Amino acid sequence: MQMRITKYGEPVLKQKAEKVEVFDSGLEKLANDMFESMCEANGIGLAAPQVGVSKRMFVIDMRRRYDADTPCNFTLDGKSIPLELAMPLVAVNPEVENAGEYVETAEEGCLSFPAIYGEVERFYKVRLVYSDLKGARHEIVCDGLFARCIQHENDHLDGITFVDRLQTKELLKISAKLKKLKRASRDFLKGKNK
Ligand code: NI
Repeated sequence: MQMRITKYGEPVLKQKAEKVEVFDSGLEKLANDMFESMCEANGIGLAAPQVGVSKRMFVIDMRRRYDADTPCNFTLDGKSIPLELAMPLVAVNPEVENAGEYVETAEEGCLSFPAIYGEVERFYKVRLVYSDLKGARHEIVCDGLFARCIQHENDHLDGITFVDRLQTKELLKISAKLKKLKRASRDFLKGKNK
């Protein structure tokens, strides 16, 4: 089932999400619904707060961004495996840490900020430890766009969005668009509460 994607200005995007305690069919359904909603919106990552659920979980699918010319460098539980076997990734109760020596600045967008982009600095390489839908812990080490995407989605679980990480100069460029989106969200919420 496709779910509505929450937009900038909606309180759920500012909340610290709650740890997942129960690994059941309901969680699996949520993951499937999030994946469907993400694909429908042509996204490569989506966090649960973006479908209005304040839980520590995100989905990622990098298959459309990597190919033979731009291979994805990653290991899953210490092994190099084909990307298709690791995707779609459902990460529950994730923990992310820097695993490299560099940071990289690149343009990011977000499904909760339609048509808004900005340059964000991220760790180039990260280690992600997470639970799968059965509750088993795994570790992914990766770099580049995959690592950027993990950091972006993980931020959502702490109520942080990419605009919170923009330098003032970058933020100024999109401030008019942000104001407009916030007004639209306010009007949407008003309509919902009537
Ligand atoms: Ni996002």
